[in-house]
Parts: sequence; C-alpha cells; structure tokens
Amino acid sequence: MSELVRLERQAAVAVVTIDRPERMNALSWATVQRLGEIGRELASDLSVLTCILTGAGDKAFCAGADLKERQGMSRSQVREMLDAYRSELSWLETSEFVSVAAINGAALGGGLELALLCDLRIAAPLSSFGLPETGLGIIPGAGGTQRIARLLGESRALDLVLTGRRIDAKEALALGLVNRLAPSREQLLDSALAWLEPVAQGAPIAQRAALAAVRAARRLPLEQGLDFERAAYERCLESADREEALRALAEKRKPRFQGK
Ligand code: COA
Repeated sequence: MSELVRLERQAAVAVVTIDRPERMNALSWATVQRLGEIGRELASDLSVLTCILTGAGDKAFCAGADLKERQGMSRSQVREMLDAYRSELSWLETSEFVSVAAINGAALGGGLELALLCDLRIAAPLSSFGLPETGLGIIPGAGGTQRIARLLGESRALDLVLTGRRIDAKEALALGLVNRLAPSREQLLDSALAWLEPVAQGAPIAQRAALAAVRAARRLPLEQGLDFERAAYERCLESADREEALRALAEKRKPRFQGK
C-alpha cells in the first residue's frame, strides 16, 4: 500500500504531503490517523520551526472527507471520525512550530478545515475553496464553523458556510482566507519556503514565544493576553540568542542563533 501521508525534513522545515491524488487527497480514517502519527513524531523534535502541509498532484490540496469511505460508515463511525479530526489534527494549531498550508488545488470541506487549522496559508493561483457541507445535509465538522468565523468574521463565514459556494484564489486572498498567492503551482513550495525563511533562520526561543503569544489572543481577554505576552517576553529576555542579536547588530554581522 502506498504511503498516505509523506513526511520530509529539510533542516528546520518539515514538509507533510497528503499523498492520495487518485482520491483528491481526501481524508480517510487511515489518512487522519497517519496525520496524527506525524504530528506526534514532530512534537518530540524541537529542531522543527516550520511545518508545511500540502497535497500531492495539481488538482486538490484535499477534497475533504473521503466520501467513498463515508458511504459505508455507520453513524457511530462518523461520530468517531469527528472525534478523530479533533484529536489527530489539533497539533497543527497547538504545536511549538508554525504550521503553513501550501494549497496546491481544491481545498473543499474538510480540506479547507485542514487549511484553517494551520497558522498561515499560501495558495497556488488555480486553487479553489469552499465549505459545501450544508449541501450534503451536514455542517463542517472538523472545526470549520468556529475557525472560519474567527478568521473572517461572522458575516463572511456565514456567506461561505450557508451558501457552500466555491471561491477562487483571488477572492480567497481578498477575503483574508489565504495570506498570499504563489506565482504558479510549480513555485508553491519554494514560495512558501522563501516566505518562511525568516522563521527558519530566526531565534527559536523568540519564534516560539511570538507564535504562542499571537495564538493566545484567540482565546484570552486582553488583560490576560497582555500577561501572557509578558511571560513570553521573559523567556526571550533570559536567552543567550537575545544577547547574540545585540552583539551581531553592533558588529554589523548576521546573528548566529543557537536556540539558547
Ligand atoms: N472523497 C473520495 N473521493 C473523491 C473525493 C472525496 N471527497 N473527491 C473526489 N474524489 C474522487 C472522485 O470520485 C473521482 O474518483 P473516480 O475516478 O473513481 O470516479 C476522483 O477523485 C477524481 O475526481 P473528479 O471529480 O473526477 O476530479 P475533478 O478534477 O473533475 O474535480 C474536485 C476535483 C476536487 C473539484 C472534485 O472531485 C470535487 O468537487 N470533489 C468533491 C469535494 C467535496 O464536495 N468535498 C466535501 C466533502 S464534505
């Protein structure tokens, strides 16, 4: 059996590729479990600063739930699947590293929800996006209703969730659903790597502290968020990398960060 999801490492960057192009990289039970396994593997490796999630082929990033598998599932199996989305995929938004969806084609239903779990999104120009679930008699069930409303605001979220309409990459960019577009499908990964280079080259303690502090803004009221930010700053203040950055500035050279 071919591997459902591939993991490749390039120094501080991990590239995770859903590799089921014949099924438009749809999320079968085994694919979701494999993504969970990869998340656990990456969690134990503090040298990873960036994780890029993408799909194989040039048609789909991920076409959502595997609808062929879904046809044979009982209601209780569907419930288990909803639980698995939550337990196996949440590492994308709780990890110590920044997660980036590199969207190489259609991101539909659970596929868009997967991209929404990531911290950042970059898309190829011919990508398409949509949450068609209500047209299938269900609702987005992998956190989509919550995350799209937080990202875009209630009104734009309702437009996409209630109509289920598909939008193109230009509209996704204008809405803020993706951060940026790559010039072409072929240049998607290189564009993502170039964009994230400051993270991969950065001071790891500061990168992790900044990521945790910005993520905290989603769940904390302002006063508590400011306390969180202060505690995160303290971790940087104590670091040798902060001193190295100041020395490098004075000596007009690039800093050599060691994650200490
Ligand atoms: N689950 C399982 N198989 C899927 C799938 C899914 N979510 N989406 C596509 N496939 C399969 C198709 O059934 C087809 O298989 P077949 O050749 O055995 O019939 C194969 O992938 C290619 O799909 P096709 O629709 O012919 O390709 P396309 O290039 O014309 O369109 C998509 C690609 C992704 C735009 C289109 O497949 C699509 O809209 N899929 C449905 C997505 C969806 O509604 N997801 C929401 C789930 S809640």
